Amino acid sequence: MPATLPANSEAPAEFAGKVAGPCVFVLFGASGDLTKRKLIPALFNLVKAKLLPDTFAVVGVSVDDLDVEGFRKQVSEFLPTNDSAALDWLRSRLFYERGDFGDPNTFAKLRDRLADIDAEAHTEGNYLFYMATAPKFFASIVQQLGRAGLSTQDNGRWRRIVIEKPFGTDLESARALNRNIKSVLQENQIYRIDHYLGKETVQNIMVFRFDNAIFEPIWNRRYIDHVQITNAETVGVERRGAYFDSAGTLRDMVPNHVMQLLSLTAMESPVSFSADAVRNEQAKVLHSLQPLNSEDVLENSVRGQYGDGIICDERVPRYRSEPGVNPESRTETFVALKLNIDNWRWAGVPFYFRTGKRLAQRHTEIAIQFKRMPFELFRNAPFHKGHTNTLVIQIQPVEGISLSFGAKIPGPVLRVGSVDMSFEYSKYFGADAYTGYEVLLYDCMIGDATLFQRADMVEAGWTVIDPVLDVWKALPPRKFPNYASGTWGPVESDHLLEADNRQWRKIEP
Ligand code: BG6
Repeated sequence: MPATLPANSEAPAEFAGKVAGPCVFVLFGASGDLTKRKLIPALFNLVKAKLLPDTFAVVGVSVDDLDVEGFRKQVSEFLPTNDSAALDWLRSRLFYERGDFGDPNTFAKLRDRLADIDAEAHTEGNYLFYMATAPKFFASIVQQLGRAGLSTQDNGRWRRIVIEKPFGTDLESARALNRNIKSVLQENQIYRIDHYLGKETVQNIMVFRFDNAIFEPIWNRRYIDHVQITNAETVGVERRGAYFDSAGTLRDMVPNHVMQLLSLTAMESPVSFSADAVRNEQAKVLHSLQPLNSEDVLENSVRGQYGDGIICDERVPRYRSEPGVNPESRTETFVALKLNIDNWRWAGVPFYFRTGKRLAQRHTEIAIQFKRMPFELFRNAPFHKGHTNTLVIQIQPVEGISLSFGAKIPGPVLRVGSVDMSFEYSKYFGADAYTGYEVLLYDCMIGDATLFQRADMVEAGWTVIDPVLDVWKALPPRKFPNYASGTWGPVESDHLLEADNRQWRKIEP
């Protein structure tokens, strides 16, 4: 069962005794962006929440020419200064090892450094290796760890690795990467991270579904017409043009983040909240996704690339003018897809999703659209639009849940309108200062893999999108860019739903 973090910097009573056990957190890619923006701030929050043991240390590894003091200074620069005790606590536990990831010598030095830390800090030989590196290093780092004897678990010591996305670039490469790392590690040592599972609202999907008796009976094809998942960003590719241009939105977002949202929404209730019980159910859904043949791909998928436009009153450039991007690029920055799930619960209920960059608003949600009533008693009442009930799980930027339903508009004449019941996290629980990585890092340290992807789940995600990749490659897009920045994507995305007499939910600013 994954951890739930306290809502403020004070560890409340129920967390007493839940401090993680002794370990060293080894960070490959120690001076990269992820380390600065997410990992170190998340560790800092764990320090403040008093969830890390005194027998804890961090070793940063990168090619940058830094010493321990230089690394400590670099790390301190991107942490808030409002809690000097926590800062001193973390700073004093930071170490640094300079080295090339391809050089066996780096790993020999690392092994010696870890042995010294174990002796001084009593970290007991438990190591968590985090690959915050470019994906091309994942396999070779694991192999080197194996050769240096750093991956072997014995005498009660554990060794785990965390692998960032992208996990492969298609089914074949994901399988090859799984084979490669599993030649060194057991599956239960591998934590394939997807930061969407660190989001409170994503974790809440399971609590909402399986801790409330009223929703589950209607969570199926008898009551639900279809499901829409929207994941919209206003940002462009920022400084990641070179990576993004070789990946595209389909690879970047769908086999991972979108599949997590879909599987949590569609899975059966697990028999327990243990890592494998939950992941077995998620995997079953992914395996039940109807395979797409070439014709399905043509009919049920849409791709787009942003042109210039206006976002938040500012003119922004087209994708092809972004730094690092080929000026004639055919890479997609928008994807819409319709998928069907072949099982009893969901037969005939399409799941539509759209995800893209430079869209009109930053907004991620899962909308469950219920069926219309069988008989519209109030169809002649003014304003009655034959509304349907929609349950919306809002993931970001607003985090919450809302349910729309019809209500009588007050007055002597019978009029019917649509209203919302809504719950917002921040209103009930206060603002959340977490990065989303805290729970994930903490779970790795306590050995809870519930929120991490298993090999079969990653491969199932790629299995779904591989045919799309193939068809898109064989038929390059003819008219990119095909949507202006600041809109909701190409018009074909609307046609995808219109063909089924449906439309995307209107997302209000
Ligand atoms: C990352 C993708 O995994 O997720 C990015 O590589 C994307 O391209 C990001 O912008 C979106 O994450 P979030 O948490 O901002 O929705």
